Amino acid sequence: MILGTRKLSTFGAAPVQTRRSLMMKLRMNQQSTEHNASKSNHQSSLDECQKVMRTDHTGGWEICWEQGLTPWDLGQPTPVISHLCAMGALPNGRVLVPGCGSGYDVVQMACSERYVVGLDISDNAIQKARELSSSSPNMRYFTFLKEDFFSWRPKELFDLIFDYTFFCAIEPVMRLAWGQQIQRLLKPNGELITLMFPMDDRIGGPPYKVSVSDYEDVLHPLGFKAVLIKDNELAIPPRKGREMIGRWKRSLAQASL
Ligand SMILES: C[S@@+](CC[C@H](N)C(=O)[O-])C[C@H]1O[C@@H](n2cnc3c(N)ncnc32)[C@H](O)[C@@H]1O
Repeated sequence: MILGTRKLSTFGAAPVQTRRSLMMKLRMNQQSTEHNASKSNHQSSLDECQKVMRTDHTGGWEICWEQGLTPWDLGQPTPVISHLCAMGALPNGRVLVPGCGSGYDVVQMACSERYVVGLDISDNAIQKARELSSSSPNMRYFTFLKEDFFSWRPKELFDLIFDYTFFCAIEPVMRLAWGQQIQRLLKPNGELITLMFPMDDRIGGPPYKVSVSDYEDVLHPLGFKAVLIKDNELAIPPRKGREMIGRWKRSLAQASL
């Protein structure tokens, strides 16, 4: 090999090929640093949130919303909900989203065949949801209400209730009351869709860990049967493998309404 024939770029920088792979490595390092930074931001927001919940006797939700401590917020509709809407695979009629937060899923599901009610105990959450959706073209098909899910008694029942990160957010001792209220609010032939998350080994909460049997323990005695339990392949990457979808129907024989 003749020395000095390798082409060096200006200022002795690496050859083109090597430079490209260096750039790629740099980009990957940058992405991984950004990913780690956002992971640690997420974790510290979650820690802060849990601290507030432990110290505030009203549950801390309002304070979290006020301070922007909302690590659960996807900033967009839940992908599996968008998918089910696009596939025409959701029941029509009246829909309830308890603990709706910023309300992306409420707006996503609302259409001329579906009237969606988003419910949240936090004033700030409801205000944010209203602001975010104020210019939605489908706004006459949804509403946001500031109510406590457990004590709310609406005049009309629902064809579908969608629960995502609400079951895991409430104190585990409230789960039976959650089931009873779902039963009270659903029409006899109504459907409950649960996105079951987080399915892991964490201690404490919120979010509290959940398992399929946690839902079954509450729902089976109330006459609900699962028509589908499946891994949620459309979960966002950080939740993949820790989230399942459940579709539950009330068995008419045991319905109390
Ligand atoms: C973990 S966040 C989930 C928000 C939303 N589902 C999402 O995935 O972005 C739980 C939400 O439930 C609301 N919440 C807590 N207790 C509630 C209650 N008793 N009635 C109605 N909403 C409640 C909180 O204010 C909060 O917005």
